[in-house]
Amino acid sequence: MGKFDVLLSEEQISRRVEELAKEISADYKGIEPVIVCMLKGSVYFFSDITKKMDLSFSIDFARLSSYKSGTTSGNIESICKITTDIENKHVLIIEDIIDSGKTLNYFLKEIEKQNPASVKLCALLDKPSRRVLPVNIDYLGFTIEDKFIVGYGLDFNEKYRELPYIAELNLDAED
Ligand code: IMP
Ligand code: MG
Repeated sequence: MGKFDVLLSEEQISRRVEELAKEISADYKGIEPVIVCMLKGSVYFFSDITKKMDLSFSIDFARLSSYKSGTTSGNIESICKITTDIENKHVLIIEDIIDSGKTLNYFLKEIEKQNPASVKLCALLDKPSRRVLPVNIDYLGFTIEDKFIVGYGLDFNEKYRELPYIAELNLDAED
């Protein structure tokens, strides 16, 4: 096995992103949601899926932190908050991966406090076997096994986000 064992190719991701964009565009027809990108991991997924939507919407960004060198710390820190007034607005959150569920469980509660008309979650990846806190995913790209993955926004110590595919990282392999 090399350094990167590809789980989802660029083509597989692109096809699924297109399907999700279509589904979301149909569901939000005439609604103008506020679409929130969860930084940093969702940056490519967010960019690709929003470009494929046939919809009018506004965008905002949030950044929370829970990961320290590949393992969950459990403490969620809000590093950057959305600035849009979302009261009575329809909010769609775009996240890279739901793992323990701690980040989104926390963020969904924060968003609910601002009295939006509705809140939905779109996640590219789900690792259900790792769940500690419940999170309801409305739009899901792929369910994956409990493997540490990188690429398409996902990092290991801030590296490999730029890979166009999603791969399992083999730390023992040579560069
Ligand atoms: P959770 O709070 O445990 O659900 O995970 C939140 C964050 O952990 C995700 O948004 C990712 O940034 C990161 N994460 C979880 N699993 C992986 C992985 O396999 N590779 C890289 N980052 C991950
Ligand atoms: Mg993330």
